[in-house]
Amino acid sequence: MSEQQVNKGRRRFLVLATSAAAGVAAIGVATPFIASWFPSERAKAAGAPVSVDISKLEPGQQVTIEWQGKPVWVVNRTEQQLKDLGTVAAQLVDPSSETTSQQPEYCKNDTRSIKPATLVLVGICTHLGCSPTFRPDVAPADLGADWKGGFYCPCHGSKFDLAGRVYKGVPAPTNLVVPPYKYVNDTTILVGEDQA
Ligand code: FES
Repeated sequence: MSEQQVNKGRRRFLVLATSAAAGVAAIGVATPFIASWFPSERAKAAGAPVSVDISKLEPGQQVTIEWQGKPVWVVNRTEQQLKDLGTVAAQLVDPSSETTSQQPEYCKNDTRSIKPATLVLVGICTHLGCSPTFRPDVAPADLGADWKGGFYCPCHGSKFDLAGRVYKGVPAPTNLVVPPYKYVNDTTILVGEDQA
């Protein structure tokens, strides 16, 4: 990707950050934003791995951190949300994560994650780089009775399930990217470094 494309993507993310935050507040979902989770400015500039403490992430909650200048979401999925992943497969473009560029090999599974509950995704739409909105609400009026929770891109209407898998019939061509990550211990994830 050229420098220009990267900058364009970042600009979209920054522009959309405000409206996405407003959308989350409107449906009453807490999105903690904890400054201490961010690495130093120098580490960020170098694209260093970012450590995330997930011990206080309640079931159903999402947090956003920054890694290599990109938003990365960490979601603690509920039991019900994990069950629902199996019910939407027929509506998805790539339910089995066959496109190898979109996740590390160790996340090519039903939940697209190392441990089932915890989802880690780069929060950039695979269409033109907007940052989708976290929509865990089931069957909301604007997304339809079949909606089991997921991510909705406000730019051109792409939809992704709670594993970041893209729905058929939307502009985004591929699933959202799962970045490399690993568990340092049970409650700490390191984003940017592959598990051994
Ligand atoms: S950028 Fe997300 S649908 Fe176009």
